[in-house]
Order: sequence, then C-alpha cells, then structure tokens
Amino acid sequence: HMEENIENLVIGSGYGGAVAALRLTQAGKKVVMLEMGLDWEKEDGKYKPFSNLITPKNNSTWLKKSSQAPMMNIAMFNKKFTGVLDRMDFENIKVYAGRGVGGGSLVNGGMAVQPKKAYFQEIFPELSVEKFWATYFPLAQKELEVNEIPDAYYEKSAYYKFARVGESEAHEAGFETVRVPNVYSFEYMKKEEAGEVPKSALAKEVIYGNNHGKQSLEKTYLKKALKTELLTIQDLHRVDYIQQIKNGYAVYVDIIDTEGLVIAKKTINCKKIFLNAGSIGTTKLLLTSMHKGKMTNFDSSLGSHWGNNGNVMTGRNMVNTLFNRVENESTESNYSTGTGSEQSTIPVSGVDNWEDKKHAFFAEISPLPMGMEVYTALYLIINKVPIPGHISYDPALDDIRIHWEKKNYQHTVDNAKYFIKKMNKANGGTPSGLLWKGGYGPDICYHPLGGAVIGKTTDLFGRVKGYENLYVTDGALVPASIGVNPFLTITAIAEYCMEEIIGKDFKK
Ligand code: FDA
Repeated sequence: HMEENIENLVIGSGYGGAVAALRLTQAGKKVVMLEMGLDWEKEDGKYKPFSNLITPKNNSTWLKKSSQAPMMNIAMFNKKFTGVLDRMDFENIKVYAGRGVGGGSLVNGGMAVQPKKAYFQEIFPELSVEKFWATYFPLAQKELEVNEIPDAYYEKSAYYKFARVGESEAHEAGFETVRVPNVYSFEYMKKEEAGEVPKSALAKEVIYGNNHGKQSLEKTYLKKALKTELLTIQDLHRVDYIQQIKNGYAVYVDIIDTEGLVIAKKTINCKKIFLNAGSIGTTKLLLTSMHKGKMTNFDSSLGSHWGNNGNVMTGRNMVNTLFNRVENESTESNYSTGTGSEQSTIPVSGVDNWEDKKHAFFAEISPLPMGMEVYTALYLIINKVPIPGHISYDPALDDIRIHWEKKNYQHTVDNAKYFIKKMNKANGGTPSGLLWKGGYGPDICYHPLGGAVIGKTTDLFGRVKGYENLYVTDGALVPASIGVNPFLTITAIAEYCMEEIIGKDFKK
C-alpha cells in the first residue's frame, strides 16, 4: 500500500480537469492529476493506433469483451482492455464517455458549439451572460483551437455530401440550418483529401479515437500545462472515494492494469481537490464519499438536476427520396440520392429549431460512414430537459443508479417524431426502422450533464458547499441540458471558476 502527500489534486483529465491543471500550473502551483484511463501517448503511443469505426480492436472499448457503439459492427475481443470508449449501462439509459488522458476529447466529434444566449441565461440565471460572451467563450475557443470548415471545401468535398443533403432537405422542410465550428483541423482534413497526409476523419475514425487531425486536450490545454513542468499525470489511477482528514483530504485510489485488475492501492493525502471526473464520475465520487468516507455535509441537491442534454439518436431511411426529388425538381440533382459512400466523421452542420417554442431542438446532422451508400440520414437531436433526472448511490451495488423515466424524456421523443415526420413529408423517406429498434432513441446519452450543479451543490464558482478546498469544475456543474453539444460550455465554465479560485483561495 502506497501513500503520497501532495498539495493540489485534480481527478480526471477531460475538459474541466485540463482547464484546472493549466490554470493552477500557470499560477505556479504543483499539480498531480489522476486519470483512470490510459495515457495514450506514453511509450511512443504503444497502445495506439486507435481503431476505426468499421473494425474496432479491443483498444476501442473500456473493459468489455465486445464493442459497444450505438451503430456499426459489433466486434468481439479475446481480452478486456482499458479502451478509449466506455458505455455505462443504467436502467433506462446508456451513457457514453471517453477514457484516457484527454477524457471525452479523445472520442468526441469535436463540435465546439456556443449555446443560445437566452437559453444559457435560463439555465444559469446567476451567471453573467455578458461576461461569458465577452471573455470565457472566446478564451475557450482560443485554447481549444476551434476552427470552421471553409465554405469552398464544404461545397465541393464528396465527404460532406451527407451534410449538404442534410441541410438541403432541412430547408425543403422549412427548417433553418447552421454551420458548426469544430476542433478538428480543417487544414489537415483538406490535406487528407488531397492525399498528402495520413487520413483520420476521412478514414472513418471517431468515437474510438482519432489518430490525426483532432486537436484533443493532450494537444492543447494538457500540453501547455505539462510544459510548465509542474504537472504530473498518473494514468490507470481510479479514485474510489474521498475522506476528510486533518488539514485536508485522503483520497483512496485503485491502480489498475490494462485488463482492469487492481494491482495496487494508494492513498493520496492532499490539501485541495479539483473533481473533474465528468458528470457521472464526479457525482459518483461525491455520493460514494458521502457513504464510504462519511462526508455528510454535502448540500441535499447532490445527485439531482441530472440529464442527457435531451439526446435522441434518430434517422431516416431515404431510399424513396430520389423519386420524390425527381418529381419535385426542387433541388440540385447531385443532392438527390443518398448521403454518399464516403463520409467525413466530423459533423459540421445542424438544424436549428430553437426559436420554435413548441418544438425547441437542435439536430446535429451526423455522418454514418459505413464505406458504402446506406441511404440513411442520421441525426443526434438535442433538447431541453424540463424535468431532470437524478443520481443516487446504492450501497448494495457499491455503485450509482440513474433515475431516468418516461417523464424525463417523452418530449424528446415527441420532438424527434415531429422532426422526422416533417422531413419525410417534404423529402420522402421513412422513419429508419434500423435506428428506432434495438436501443436507439432516448436511452442514449453522449452528453451527461449535472449532478453537482453550480449554485446548488457548489457555490457560484464550483466550491463544494459544506467543505473547504473541494471543487467541481466539469460537466457535473451544468444542470441537465445546455441545448447544444456541451464541451465548449464546460470549458468556459471551468475557466470562469478557476479564475476566481486561483484569485481568492490560495491567499490564506
Ligand atoms: P470528461 O468525461 O471529458 O472527463 C472526465 C475524465 O475523468 C475521464 O477521462 C475519465 O476517465 C476520468 N475519470 C472518471 N472517473 C474517474 C475516477 N473515479 N478516477 C479517475 N479518473 C476518473 N461534446 C461536444 O461538445 N461536441 C461533440 O462533438 C461531442 N461529441 C461526443 C461524442 C461522443 C461519442 C461522446 C461520448 C461525447 C461527445 N461529446 C461532445 C460530449 C463531450 O465529450 C463531454 O461533454 C465532455 O467530454 C465532458 O467533459 P468533462 O470534463 O465534464 O468530463
């Protein structure tokens, strides 16, 4: 059994953790960061390359014997491995998350979307929208290296036919569309298409990691933080729970091997803890610490205001749209058949129906790169979550439960049906049987949010109520939904919290 004494501990290396690590080290503080997943860059990237969508290897999947993606092929593995994409299965919802140094940034589609101003204000009534728009969103965009697809490239690339068709069909149905910024480098993508560099987005890589092109956190925030030489990252370190001790906290850690077996135990004694294990991870750590660590001073809101950002995965079978288009002669002919056999994995457009009060949603026009024409249009729809769910700890399981019922998601299904019906009426197509069955729909969650919400479980700057020197600066702070893909918002909020914490909490 090992023991370590340190000052500042960051748990988790996703967006919240990366911001905390950079701002702490830049302020001259030594930081230890724990991550339960692999450092994919260590030993010259020994466990890479990452898998593509079509032929997942065991490094695609967190400790299961088969791949778990919502679509695509299911692959079987001989051995469990600490792979990059996790799926946590709860009673009515399956939550996906990235594992490894970089957290969700390793697996996600890179969409860096700023929420609607009015909705941000509705979700965070006590935060200053003006300050976020003037300072924290631009800062997050700069540090994350957000860029936009050039129009000329978008208009002509065969790899974006799916997106052009998606936009054109949405317009046909009377919807508005928007182009969405991303952290995948479009300069790199252009070179991929020109055959000048190894392909990643154009070679069906996403969800199981991108080997090139995506500016994930190990290339941005974490790289900068490591450069200060004040940051130490320990991978395959999974925190079990926290306990209050004299002058700080004891943190109980399991060190695991790449098959997930516990090979050692460690206790880290520290002064300050920055919890950044993601919405599910952070909430679980706090609730587990309440039971196993006897930390009973938390605010009663802990575990509540949880949601899936209103995620619904849906799609349309487009086989009959060709005939419909020819009859209508309404759209450019090259838009008339299917979504293309070659598709970039990086989404760049969406349907913005936020102004429609009855059916407020944002639908990401998603690729389905199967390597052949599958005549299927795929959408990840994002909604409000007017009735949030909640998370509790079950001592018998030594795990959490998510309470997520029909009342929490029925409106998201109604919105999805409304959208698909309108799209099919205008363009032809049928609801995709393939997608509605077999677990597709409102039980999917790419965007877990909440559980330790700002202004409720924490103060207005992520300080956990009831304790000192204990902070949350990740997706757990955001109550249930932000209406668009969330990592830009999570990064901006972490920046805002860390500015205050570094300014005020180190002087004592
Ligand atoms: P995040 O989950 O990123 O990081 C938490 C880290 O803590 C993880 O690395 C985890 O392994 C670690 N951890 C957890 N428990 C621990 C423990 N007990 N001990 C040690 N370490 C622990 N968003 C978006 O804006 N645009 C997009 O295009 C997409 N696309 C997308 C695709 C897919 C497939 C997924 C799964 C998700 C997305 N997202 C997205 C969502 C986005 O990735 C997500 O919102 C953020 O990564 C959340 O950031 P956090 O910092 O909150 O946690």
